[in-house]
Amino acid sequence: MRQLPEIFDPKVIVGTDTADDAAVYKLRDDLAVVQTVDYITPIVDDPFIFGAVAATNSISDIYAMGATPIFALSIVGFPAKKLPVKVLEQILQGGISKAAEGGIQVIGGHTIDDEEPKYGLVVTGIVHPDKVITNATAQVGDDLILTKPIGTGIVNTAIKVEMAPEESVQEAIKVMTTLNRAAAEAMVKVGVNACTDVTGFGLLGHLHETTHASGVGANVYLSNIPVIAGVWEMLSDWIIPEGTHSNVEFVKEWVEFDDDLPEDAEFLLADPQTSGGLLISVPKEKTEILLEFLADAGVETFACIGEITADANSKIRVF
Ligand code: CO
Ligand code: CO
Ligand code: CO
Repeated sequence: MRQLPEIFDPKVIVGTDTADDAAVYKLRDDLAVVQTVDYITPIVDDPFIFGAVAATNSISDIYAMGATPIFALSIVGFPAKKLPVKVLEQILQGGISKAAEGGIQVIGGHTIDDEEPKYGLVVTGIVHPDKVITNATAQVGDDLILTKPIGTGIVNTAIKVEMAPEESVQEAIKVMTTLNRAAAEAMVKVGVNACTDVTGFGLLGHLHETTHASGVGANVYLSNIPVIAGVWEMLSDWIIPEGTHSNVEFVKEWVEFDDDLPEDAEFLLADPQTSGGLLISVPKEKTEILLEFLADAGVETFACIGEITADANSKIRVF
């Protein structure tokens, strides 16, 4: 990606250089447009749930920027010769239902014939240019708040080999189809320093993007991190998604694990998430109020998992 031409338009508030969740483009002094595109391959058999997960995942990048979504377009790959059109209809319905929950409509899109189904949304949002929450402005002393449990990659892998307990499957589906809307609204109300959502690069990968872009380090406390039920057991049965190993490689030089941690901790913390929670960097004096607002907003799982440290080499230390 480093080979691509530099972005020079002064209206670009967030572009490609900080690996953020969405692009932000200033239209007026009081208005910026926020845009993101994301699509995934099926992680569950049920087409409606797949559509709902993909849409939740796509809209999340708008919430992670502190923005408000206004509309979406669908992007679809579908094997029309192999699967009944009813399946496609259910995928789209699942997506539309989540968009509606986010207060928006899917007002267009594009479908191509494809070997394997793929689905996601292009989502457009708006935000005041001064209120954008990037991943590049975490401050030393901030607390790190995570708003969903992790482990969806491990559960999704266990589903494929039919080793996932029903309880874990249900929890993972709930996690993946819960919009980050309520969490984002609480965060915007409180005012925070930085945010990203936890998706394909795993908790450590997205935390690294934040610490690297912000020029800071972080401490993370394993025992504070919420984990989907049964995930540790699946890990000890060596159920590890393909993407985990490249995620571990990606963060390796930036992360130090305490000697006392279980060996598979790094696989959990590098587990690629689908539609994960927000990872919020909040000034310590506002942590209490943010936790209170998250609870009031009905966010089911959230925790303070660590803090931002002064570290010119952007080291993440896991205890
Ligand atoms: Co994101
Ligand atoms: Co994304
Ligand atoms: Co962000």
